[in-house]
Amino acid sequence: MTNPAQNGHPSKSEEGARSPADEERAKMPAPSAPSRPYADLDTPSVIVDLALLERNVAEMAGLAREAGVALRPHVKTHKTPRIAAMQLDAGAAGLTCAKVGEAEALAGAGFTDLFVCYPIVTRTKARRLSALAARPGLSLSTIVDSPAGVAALSAAFADAPEPLETLVKVDTGLGRVGVAPGAAAVDLARTVAAAPGLRFGGVCAHEGFAYGLPDPEERAAAARAGAATLAATAEELAAAGLPAARVSVGATPGASALAATPGVTEVRPGNYVFYDAMQAGLGVVPLERCALRVLVTVVSHAARDRAIVDAGSKTLTSDQGAHGLASAGGFGAVVGREDVRIERLSEEHGWLRLDPAGSDVGIGETLEVVPVHACPVANLAHELVIVR
Ligand SMILES: Cc1ncc(COP(=O)(O)O)c(C=O)c1O
Repeated sequence: MTNPAQNGHPSKSEEGARSPADEERAKMPAPSAPSRPYADLDTPSVIVDLALLERNVAEMAGLAREAGVALRPHVKTHKTPRIAAMQLDAGAAGLTCAKVGEAEALAGAGFTDLFVCYPIVTRTKARRLSALAARPGLSLSTIVDSPAGVAALSAAFADAPEPLETLVKVDTGLGRVGVAPGAAAVDLARTVAAAPGLRFGGVCAHEGFAYGLPDPEERAAAARAGAATLAATAEELAAAGLPAARVSVGATPGASALAATPGVTEVRPGNYVFYDAMQAGLGVVPLERCALRVLVTVVSHAARDRAIVDAGSKTLTSDQGAHGLASAGGFGAVVGREDVRIERLSEEHGWLRLDPAGSDVGIGETLEVVPVHACPVANLAHELVIVR
């Protein structure tokens, strides 16, 4: 985010003694004021509505608190230390990263509890992790789903002063990474527990399959079933003498069902911080609740049913949905104009399909587009501009 005002953003750590890392983090400006006047924004700009962002952050923190589970938000959605700080200030216990690079950046910004939730299997990345873990005051954890992953981490951490907290990734239905629940997870946990330099920390799953279920009840039931499968594996582990301190689940759709499932100890939603047209398409939130938008200008209107805006795939990305959700309606939805969708993209052009019988747009008009998938849009953006 660009140049937000520093005006005493509250910090959880202000209530008690501060660690050096907390001191460092407290120096970072927080997004507590607009970055710059809305009317001065050029297009395309990726903007974040501060009031909506604050509401999203607070609501998910409240949901986790009420369920009695830790919140460890996934930062891949925003990749922004200032938003991570807001999440911690709202009560998050730590942060989840998809990449070692994200963890390195957050550690550099003073964050002290980082979970790299991605299988690390190469010597290069395992060494980066061990260099990161050597930072004073940093609590680092990661996952494995293979003996090869265990071997790579163990080689890098065998001589480390502290063992690396390592969770076993379990596939509860997404079919991406993770070992099968039950016996296979117990076997891998045994391998972790026996590996020099590693400490078995629990089990972890991602319920991305929830994106393929538009019916809210079906989605909640599937999320609950996935989390229950993971919790049952944790019970098998306890019976085998390998108690799982962390039973970690997480996805934005189905978040409340996941958090409320008995046996779950932490949730890792990511997208909720902004939401997007995919979540609106699933009925998770209305479109108006989406905090990240792309401000665009209508640059051409050469036919009655067609207008062109100045954001294409290099801004909105070509992402049309994830994990079975084939399309959430083109490439973005125009706020306040339910009749208008972004139908097609080239690199710097977005096609608006207009209903000739419906409302029109004018050349030079500014529109707010909620992208289908906010995470890659934030990833591509040079800056996120805070607006109110
Ligand atoms: C491993 C893992 N955990 C948590 C999440 C967060 O999911 P969502 O963005 O649906 O909240 C993701 C998303 O990609 C993920 O891959």
